[in-house]
Amino acid sequence: MGHRYKLAIIGNGMICNAAHLPALAPLRKAGKVEVAAVADIRPQAAHETAKRYDIPAWYTDPQKMLDEVKPDWVSICTPNCHHDWMIQALRAGANVMCEKPLALTCVQAKEAFRVAKEEGKLLFPCQSRRWSPDMNFASDVVAKGLLGKPYFADLSFIRRYGIPTWGMFHMKEENGGGPFCDLGVHFLDALLWMTGNPRVEAVSGSAFDTLAQKGEDVLLSIKESGAYIGTFTPRPYKHEEFNVEDSAVGTIRLAGNFTVNFKFTWALNQPTAKHIIICGDQGGLDVEEMMLYHNVGGYQGETKLKYFDNRPYAGVAFDAHYYMYDHVYNVLEGREEPRVKPEETLNVVAAIEAFYRSAAENREVRTTELEGYQV
Ligand SMILES: NC(=O)c1ccc[n+]([C@@H]2O[C@H](COP(=O)([O-])OP(=O)(O)OC[C@H]3O[C@@H](n4cnc5c(N)ncnc54)[C@H](O)[C@@H]3O)[C@@H](O)[C@H]2O)c1
Repeated sequence: MGHRYKLAIIGNGMICNAAHLPALAPLRKAGKVEVAAVADIRPQAAHETAKRYDIPAWYTDPQKMLDEVKPDWVSICTPNCHHDWMIQALRAGANVMCEKPLALTCVQAKEAFRVAKEEGKLLFPCQSRRWSPDMNFASDVVAKGLLGKPYFADLSFIRRYGIPTWGMFHMKEENGGGPFCDLGVHFLDALLWMTGNPRVEAVSGSAFDTLAQKGEDVLLSIKESGAYIGTFTPRPYKHEEFNVEDSAVGTIRLAGNFTVNFKFTWALNQPTAKHIIICGDQGGLDVEEMMLYHNVGGYQGETKLKYFDNRPYAGVAFDAHYYMYDHVYNVLEGREEPRVKPEETLNVVAAIEAFYRSAAENREVRTTELEGYQV
């Protein structure tokens, strides 16, 4: 029997209710984790979450919660400006899991990992796609050398009209940006992880807000916008507040002459689609279709790869969070090495920072220009 950790969650919206608390249920049941408190600046969100998941205390002031409850594990589920609570929780002596993206600038990311080191605590970024069944399988295909050396990838996470409307995703001050730091970070992190974390060298991108600004009355599915479940206390959406991009497109240069084209959108007049296509000198893989394009005896072969998810949480909504919590528990117990390394998170954060700078300055931005990312 290992330790029993006292856990608290800051930010009690969709992902807290749909993914974190359900994923904690097996650990709570096994007596490995006690969820001691939740905190949210909106009393209704905190109170109802505590009631829904049988949690003894709720707060509207996360600092008060850290001071009074003294958790040894904190999950940060606020909108993307996670930095201050991440630092406060580490300084309060907790191990921290932080929703993606961990940070919006390299300076912030480096500071967070430095503080974690100073405090002797684990800082774990929820780069959750690494636990998704398709990404797991694709990473095995790449690792087995079926693609040879990858040199091009095409990433598309396109929602025709799927602006997240339940929170603050559309507000720059709270979220930092739109689909690049919402959807893009998932696909980019998965790609970099599968291909050995090649260093992001430069980003050339454009950001648009054309459709979101029109505030058109377009039929919108919350599910298609990313919230399968868990929007119990949505914040009312006003398109007048929208000041991030609704579409992010461009190119990323990675070390080793590896180029990535990307298209990440919440609103674009194009069919909804998701693709990670990785092309190497031996083959290409469309991860969504699990189709391998390769030379078969001089013929153009297309092999549909079957895969099975035989893991315990197969088919459960936000299954990746279940594996992530088990993993973090095992890391804290010294049984596993962290799957997400600080330098890998920094690589993704560098892409975010370079993208927004590139779009604002209308030019390619090299990551050597970014404070905190120099080699
Ligand atoms: N890993 C994934 O698959 C995944 C999926 C969806 C969202 N996310 C991430 O999770 C985070 C939250 O997303 P969500 O959909 O739950 O958003 P949400 O808006 O539903 O929830 C965020 C909550 O944080 C609260 N909050 C805002 N500022 C706060 C502050 N300063 N202190 C305390 N609470 C504060 C809000 O009141 C809200 O209840 C985002 O960073 C998002 O990128 C990750």
